[in-house]
Formats: sequence, structure tokens, C-alpha cells
Amino acid sequence: MVGFGTYQMPRRITQQCVTDALEVGYRHIDTAQCYGNEHEVGLAVKASCLPREEVFVTTKLWGVRGYGDTMRSIENSLRTIGLDYIDLFLIHEPSGDFISQYQAMEDARQMGLLRSIGVANFMQENYLNLIAHCKVIPAVNQIETHVYRQQTAMHRLLQQHGTWHESWSPLACGQNGFFRDPVLQAIADCHGKTIAQVGLRWLLQQGIDVIPKTTHKQRMQENLDLFDFSLSDAEMQAIKGLDTGRSQFNWW
Ligand SMILES: NC(=O)c1ccc[n+]([C@@H]2O[C@H](COP(=O)([O-])OP(=O)(O)OC[C@H]3O[C@@H](n4cnc5c(N)ncnc54)[C@H](OP(=O)(O)O)[C@@H]3O)[C@@H](O)[C@H]2O)c1
Repeated sequence: MVGFGTYQMPRRITQQCVTDALEVGYRHIDTAQCYGNEHEVGLAVKASCLPREEVFVTTKLWGVRGYGDTMRSIENSLRTIGLDYIDLFLIHEPSGDFISQYQAMEDARQMGLLRSIGVANFMQENYLNLIAHCKVIPAVNQIETHVYRQQTAMHRLLQQHGTWHESWSPLACGQNGFFRDPVLQAIADCHGKTIAQVGLRWLLQQGIDVIPKTTHKQRMQENLDLFDFSLSDAEMQAIKGLDTGRSQFNWW
């Protein structure tokens, strides 16, 4: 439920950061072809000497057209990360012929190259289109979700169809004054916790998993230390009021 994000993490520090994350207890690492750091993520996983089945690695498909391209791209990711299989493989965004891309992923899953498959940034129309054509329901849809973009309708839709809702930028990547938000600060003070912990806990309590990114070992620990408190109904409601219904990144 609490993974470690690696977007915008420079290659030269990625291996060390992922090693630190594994040391403090993360067992779920999120990378992507377009982050350019798949190789370093794989190096850290292998150097950790953890049993392979204890670490869950996600990567994402980028910039391909159809079926054949996708197969080659999966093989390339496996070579770059240096693992025999990928735990979760996502279409990074709905571009090109994503139905054919997904069919290749279904076949790669059948072949044992991918353990589970899903999507990212698929909003209602694309998501419904995909599930009308696929054999395997996407295990996960990774979408921008945080206190300022709560995605309540998408959450309901995903639950209805059996796809897990995963939050990207669970800390809003610091946008909109997240780390100074007075509503979050007041709640954090009540629990002796930080704003980051309140924002992450709020997602977890709705059954949304989180993949916060940080390059600081102390913050890695902080972002994982979420299971010794819970938010009351009134606190959950107060945070509901922060929704802007808009992306903080003008993206999907
Ligand atoms: N599928 C997609 O399209 C997509 C898009 C965006 C992101 N993602 C995934 O989601 C992950 C998380 O999203 P994100 O990296 O955009 O943003 P995020 O995790 O919401 O926030 C990261 C930012 O918050 C800072 N930070 C982290 N923990 C902190 C703490 N406890 N206190 C204060 N500052 C803290 C980090 O700085 P420091 O590093 O300096 O600590 C960094 O600037 C990504 O890394 C990536 O794996 C996926």
C-alpha cells in the first residue's frame, strides 16, 4: 500500500535512494521507461539481496504504437531492469492504439514476463473503452490523486469494475502550498504527525495506495510511518473540503 516513487530522480542518485528505501522498509518501487532510471532501480533491488518475491517492482510503457512495439518494449524493460519478470506493468498514458498495447501486455502476462498489468492516467472514457475490449481487467489505474484532486468519481468507477486505485503525487508534489496547508497542519498537530503523513494516511484510509517520492532517508521513514494513528470521520470530512477538482499539473 505504500510504495516508493522515483519520478524526477536523477540516475546518478537513484540506486542509492532505492537502496535507502529498501533499508527503511519499502517493498514496492515505482519506476517508468520515461524516467530513465529503470536500470538503477534494478541494480538496487538486486544488490539488496532481498528474495525477489519480497520486492514489488512497477514500470510503465512509453511511446509505442501497437502490439509488436509493445512486446519489444516489455523485453527491453526486462533487460534494462535486469529482472526475470516485472510485478506490475502499466500503460503510462492512453496514447496510440492502447487496445493493441494492452493485448500485448495480456500475452506477456500469460508468458510470465509480467505478473500483473494495468494502466495510468486513464480517465473515465478511455478506461471504459479499454475494459470493454480487454480479457484481463486492469489490476491498477495509477492517477493523480491527493487532497486537492480527490478523484471521487473515478474511485467509485474503479471499485465498481475491480481495478485498484493508486495515487501518483500523493503529496501533490508540494503544489498549492501542500506542505503549509493550515487544515492539514491542524490535523497533523492533533496527532503529533506531519502534514505529509496526514495526506498519505487520508488516501490509505480510503483504500488508495500511495507511492511518495523523496531523496531523503529521513523523509522515506516519515512517509512510511503511517500505521500508528488514524483520522476521525470529522478529519476525513475536513480534508474532503480541500478538493479543487482540478489537476495541479495541467496534465491528465
Ligand atoms: N503515472 C504517472 O503519470 C505519474 C506521474 C507523476 C508521478 N508518478 C509516480 O508517483 C510518484 C510520486 O509522485 P511525485 O514524485 O510527483 O510527487 P510526491 O510524491 O507527491 O511529492 C514529491 C515531492 O515532495 C517532497 N517530499 C517527499 N516527502 C516529503 C516529506 N515527508 N516532507 C517534505 N517534502 C517531502 C519531495 O522532495 P525531496 O525528494 O527533496 O524529499 C518531492 O519534491 C512519482 O515519483 C512517480 O513514481 C506517476
